[in-house]
Order: sequence, then structure tokens, then C-alpha cells
Amino acid sequence: MALFSDPAVGIDDPMLRRAFGLAERGRGTASPNPLVGCVLVSDGAVVGEGFHAQAGGPHAEVVALEAAGDRARGAHAYVTLEPCTHFGKTPPCVDRMLSAGIAEVTIGMRDPNPEVSGCGAEALAAAGVTVNWAADPGPFETQNEAWLLRLRLGRPFVRVKVALTLDGRPALAARRRSKITGAGGRHVTMRLRSEATAIVVGASTVSVDDPELTVRDENDALAERSPRRIVLSRTSAPNPRACVFSADRGECVVVASDAASPAALEPLVRVGARVLTYAYRDGLSGALRAIAADGVNDVLVEAGPSLFTALWRDRFIDELVVVTAGGMSGNAGPPLFLGCADAEGQDLAPVLHPVETGIAQGDAVTVWRQLDQEPGLGKGSVG
Ligand SMILES: NC(=O)c1ccc[n+]([C@@H]2O[C@H](COP(=O)([O-])OP(=O)(O)OC[C@H]3O[C@@H](n4cnc5c(N)ncnc54)[C@H](OP(=O)(O)O)[C@@H]3O)[C@@H](O)[C@H]2O)c1
Repeated sequence: MALFSDPAVGIDDPMLRRAFGLAERGRGTASPNPLVGCVLVSDGAVVGEGFHAQAGGPHAEVVALEAAGDRARGAHAYVTLEPCTHFGKTPPCVDRMLSAGIAEVTIGMRDPNPEVSGCGAEALAAAGVTVNWAADPGPFETQNEAWLLRLRLGRPFVRVKVALTLDGRPALAARRRSKITGAGGRHVTMRLRSEATAIVVGASTVSVDDPELTVRDENDALAERSPRRIVLSRTSAPNPRACVFSADRGECVVVASDAASPAALEPLVRVGARVLTYAYRDGLSGALRAIAADGVNDVLVEAGPSLFTALWRDRFIDELVVVTAGGMSGNAGPPLFLGCADAEGQDLAPVLHPVETGIAQGDAVTVWRQLDQEPGLGKGSVG
């Protein structure tokens, strides 16, 4: 997700770019499915368009075909992901496109699933449809990087956000709720939350900060969609009276290890939370796999020092968004990374590198990514 630059800038074809923009509208809701957008063009005019909004709902191609009706006959379909040929929760899109009389298709990227990759394009071509591919699948693969990563690794894409003082502290004192960043930081947090499938915090942060983890606008009004909220714990059980468990704030899931006491987790179920368990010996990997198996392609982790350190050590951070405010904390504030770099076998060789930087009102924002990922997103400012 680009905070300061246009992720569609590398897409030359204007209709594919339009389809890319439509696909974005499913961000946060399409999971565990991919983001897909589709535009139908006939005689130079857009006759139908659509995106995949949620799993179980119609695919982008079907939404576009229904919007176009008879005007789909002979049309050119621009679709960000190769149309499917298999029966899932809905019938194959290729069949729908053929029966609607689509004459030409331009596709952003292949379906990576080895059993179906290329099949959609082949079936269309075999039926006489002209099939073209985007000159560069890169932007489409980046758009669906979370889905692709979950298919490949069986865990969600992990985006971590931390707010830090200028001297690098995530709180003004240990185990104390601290307001570190200003309006710019809040704006970035709300943007990241609004585009996340799920927001994750540690149980300890629930007990210290008692956050709501909602999405709110500048006037503090609650957004229409609340992402799923997930509380991670190993053995502790969060307080069922915590704000995060308020029923009117959307779904809340507690992901606890099998070393947590079932009796201690029971009150959480009574206040409407769902509890997922994983094997304690599997650590964070087990917790993340349980989240992915629950249909989540990506998570936004608002991490305190313990969770941050665990995610860092296990190399689970796919993207790190650091929001830095202008104030100092000093020695009372805990460090973000718990432990000693050398003693833990960590050296100063970079693991992440900066890909975007910008200013959000009075706060500085830097986005970091794994070194083996593509760099190159720009600079700018938000808010
Ligand atoms: N500046 C920021 O961006 C930011 C964001 C969040 C929080 N904070 C601050 O951070 C402080 C809380 O930090 P914290 O270090 O106490 O808590 P934390 O890092 O937020 O979360 C630790 C919690 O995560 C659970 N957990 C699950 N798997 C874990 C694993 N593999 N390793 C470590 N923990 C795991 C732990 O469960 P068990 O208890 O069962 O072990 C523990 O309750 C507060 O002062 C809060 O204000 C700052």
C-alpha cells in the first residue's frame, strides 16, 4: 500500500489503470480473496465496470457484465487478474464472459495458483477471444501482494505501525498510555486501519492503552466499516471489559495459545469475542497461521515493544510504518526493541530499507520494507 505515491503510475493502459483503481475499492473487505477490478469497453466507451467487494459476493467480471447487459456483446474486457475457470463460491467467470459475447480481454496478471494459472486465458483464447497481457504485471502483483504472500507462505502480510518519539521511544514511560504523535500520525493510523483487513494488538497493549481500534474521521465519527480487531496473547487473557470487546465496534477475535487457560478465555466468548487457538510451541508463526486460516490476507499490527521484538526476531515484518513526532521521551520511555543487538545475534546489517518517506502535518512518516522487495516508491506528504 503506497502512502505517498500513486501505485498505478506504471500502468500505461488507461483502461487497465481504471480497472486497477476499481480493484482498490475491495481493499480490506475482499480477503481472503484477491483484489480484482474489471472494465468493459465497447466502441470506445465504458459500458460496464465492477470490482470484487467480498468473498462469496460476485466477482468483478460478473459485476461489470451485469452492469453492461447486452452492451457486453463484442466488448473488450480489461481485468486486473486472470479470470477464473473453476467453481468456487460462484461459477467460473470465463463461462460468463463467453456467454456474454466478450471479444477481447486484456489481463493484468496471471492467477498464481499452479492448478489454474493460464487456464482462464487459454479457455478464452480457445473460444476465439483475443487475449492480451499487461506489458508489466508488477503493479498488479504489488496490489495483490498480501493475497500472493498468504497463498505462498500460509500467513498474512504483516504491516507494523509504530509511533515513536524523536529519540525512538514508543511510550513516555513503561506500561503507560502515551500520546506520542499529533494530527498527522492520527491521520496515517486511520488510513492504515481503514485499508486493513484486520488490526492486531498485543494483550498487554489492551490492558495498558485500552484502545478501541476503530476507524474515525477528522470529526471523530465512526467509519462505515470497522476492520476485524484481533488481540494476540500467549497465556494471558485480556480483560473482557476492555473497549476492544464493545459489541458495536465490529468483530473482535482473540488469538491465544493452547497454554492459555480455557476458563480465563470463557468470559471473552460471553462478551461476543471469537477465540482462535494455536500451539504454544509454534509461537508467532502459529498465531499468524491461525489468522490466515481464518480468512485474513493482511494485518496491521500496532505493536508495543514485546510484540515488535518478537515480530522482528522472527522476520515477520513485511512492511514497517514508523511515525515520528518531534518530542523527546528520555530514559523513562522503554526502547522499541527489547534485548541487545549483539547478544541476540542481530548485527547492524539492514534487514529493512526505506521505500517511502513523507510528512503528515507535524509528524514524519517512513515506510520500510524487506530488503529483497522492490524499492522505489516516492516521497510526498499527506494530511
Ligand atoms: N508507540 C506505539 O506505536 C505503540 C503501539 C502499541 C503499544 N504501545 C505501548 O507499548 C506498551 C505495551 O507494550 P508491551 O511490550 O507491554 O506489549 P505488546 O508488545 O503490545 O504486546 C505484548 C503482548 O502480546 C502477546 N504476545 C503474543 N505472542 C507473543 C510473542 N510471540 N511475543 C511477545 N508477545 C506476544 C503477549 O501475550 P502474553 O501476555 O500472553 O505473553 C503480550 O500480552 C504500552 O505502553 C503501549 O502504550 C506503543
